[in-house]
Amino acid sequence: MNLKYRKTIIAGNWKMNKTITEAKTFADAIKPQLGRHKWCEVVLCVPGVNIPGMVRLFKDTRVAIGGETCHYEASGAFTGEVTVEMLKDVGAKYVIIGHSERRQYYNETDFTVNKKVHAALEAGLRPIVCVGESLEQRELGVTEELISYQVKVALAGLSDTQVRRVVVAYEPIWAIGTGKTATAEQAGAVCTHIRTIIRKQYGARVARAVTIQYGGSMNAKNAAELLAQPDIDGGLIGGASLKPDDFMAIINAANQE
Ligand code: PGA
Repeated sequence: MNLKYRKTIIAGNWKMNKTITEAKTFADAIKPQLGRHKWCEVVLCVPGVNIPGMVRLFKDTRVAIGGETCHYEASGAFTGEVTVEMLKDVGAKYVIIGHSERRQYYNETDFTVNKKVHAALEAGLRPIVCVGESLEQRELGVTEELISYQVKVALAGLSDTQVRRVVVAYEPIWAIGTGKTATAEQAGAVCTHIRTIIRKQYGARVARAVTIQYGGSMNAKNAAELLAQPDIDGGLIGGASLKPDDFMAIINAANQE
């Protein structure tokens, strides 16, 4: 973390979990403890249908609500999809773009990621752009090249001001939902690499302002060590964000410094 230059953001990714009734139980458990979070921003990204309910549940808190994906077109014949304006209109502030599960199961590519990032920023949403390598790619030693490519394509055509509003989440695919976490050094090194890529393209001032998260089995136990890395400015958390105590422990770890 580097609180001088950028915000720490702890974001939950609920994926396809929790009805709004279950979300209320979560909100009741976590809201009394939230007053203590000082500088880190807290976000919960949830299934689109639950965004209005979540916005209501968290309206008197500083927790921002986000979507888990969006379409890049403004409207049209795209059965089942949701536009950025629709997300904005129901109160979302963030949207996850290019999660590896979307890339794997729903044909998300680096080029659709780029279009979605543009659409989100134009609508006033902050995109959380996910990048990350598979185990095979890591073992082949192509992690840095792959991440460079993913980051460059995702951010292509953005202005400096727009890049500052992007959150990049480094999520090694082999660590997602597996209980295997990258070591703090491995995760920190890739996040530093991401900042270097941004610096080369947009300069030092923009690069140091960008929040870069780590995601992949971040939990109550390993959060503090990961967040101690200078270029890890938060987390994108799946499994542990579903449990109020675990999610709260991660928020507290981000407020330690
Ligand atoms: P996980 O998920 O924390 O359950 O590994 C992270 C993510 O997919 O964003």
